[in-house]
Amino acid sequence: MKKYINPNLLIDWNLKETETDRKRERNGGYRWKSPSNLAIIKYWGKHGNQLPRNPSISMTLQAAFTETQMNYYLATGKNQLVTFSYNGKENKAFAARIIRFFDSLRPVFPFIDDFEYDMYSTNSFPHGSGIASSASAMSAVALCLCDIEREHFGTLQDDEAFYEKASYVARLGSGSAARSVYGGWTEWGTHECDPSLTDYWATQLTEIHPSFQHMKDMILITSSAEKSVSSSAGHQLMEGNVYADVRYQQAKDRIPLLLSALKTGDWGTFGKIAENEALTLHALMMSSEESYILMHPNSLAIIEIIREYRRETGHHVYFSLDAGPNIHMLYPAAIDIEVRKFVDERLEQYCQGGQIIYDQVGIGPERQESDLGIYSSFVQS
Ligand code: PMV
Repeated sequence: MKKYINPNLLIDWNLKETETDRKRERNGGYRWKSPSNLAIIKYWGKHGNQLPRNPSISMTLQAAFTETQMNYYLATGKNQLVTFSYNGKENKAFAARIIRFFDSLRPVFPFIDDFEYDMYSTNSFPHGSGIASSASAMSAVALCLCDIEREHFGTLQDDEAFYEKASYVARLGSGSAARSVYGGWTEWGTHECDPSLTDYWATQLTEIHPSFQHMKDMILITSSAEKSVSSSAGHQLMEGNVYADVRYQQAKDRIPLLLSALKTGDWGTFGKIAENEALTLHALMMSSEESYILMHPNSLAIIEIIREYRRETGHHVYFSLDAGPNIHMLYPAAIDIEVRKFVDERLEQYCQGGQIIYDQVGIGPERQESDLGIYSSFVQS
């Protein structure tokens, strides 16, 4: 995909008219709040430079987000290229990940080496709550970088171009992050139904039934232990998985079914796909060459109870899982009060320390007022 390989995005400092102009251009900062997302049709297996083996569809979350302030300064060559602080503490491991990400972005943002960067980041969800944070973290960084491009080159002025590029860039940091730059529902990856789709960036779905626009996602935290196998290793293991080809085809076949369910408000079809996708993801982990299990005994206990509750009440209450042990319980907003009561009575006891995140389909990333000065108000304890 040559579209975003642009050697012209280099700053010519001699063109800056006055010293004030030059100073202004040499440092600045942006701040974005960007959400996590939950895939209903899962992306699992990749190739080339962060390209998906199959298309995926996700909902953007609202309560689970990362907020990142990125400050940049003209590079002096004396300092570290990137410093990264998470919740007020320097995080060298994440800085190293960002540096690798920036290395991969040189053809897209040739100006990237002109600056040094200080980043300050917080997550709305408690650290170690087992919520995948790379989608929200990487999309926030991608959005800040696109703002820097827009400021210096006058490009990406219209929103469509801005978010498409942000999605392309976020994908290079973490595949699922490509879907986090849009609110509502998002799809990513080529499939036969729509030739305009691409593996390089995600797009927002527009035809969504109101009951799915307002869908609730209650995240039941069963364990906050660090994942024993990373998503990168999991994608890698798909390369030798005997079920891989069948799985990729299954995901492709499901796309038109899910699109139609989302459009018409067909909760039955939606629920069947959501639950089967979650269990398939975990079955693929269990059946890979180096088998592993990320579910917790309480994940299974909760799944059983959700199914029982559905049988008892006929309510559209379904579950999904990401690459971890926590259960995402999905249901229409109209039954929220009843479902919360059910959770208090029957599910909370299976959550570690009673941890629950009350989430829903979200509005997407929001640019925040940049704070170039004091960060203490930004840092949570
Ligand atoms: O974005 P990655 O490389 O961390 O992969 C995440 C994959 C899943 O979260 C398991 C599924 C998905 O589509 O988000």
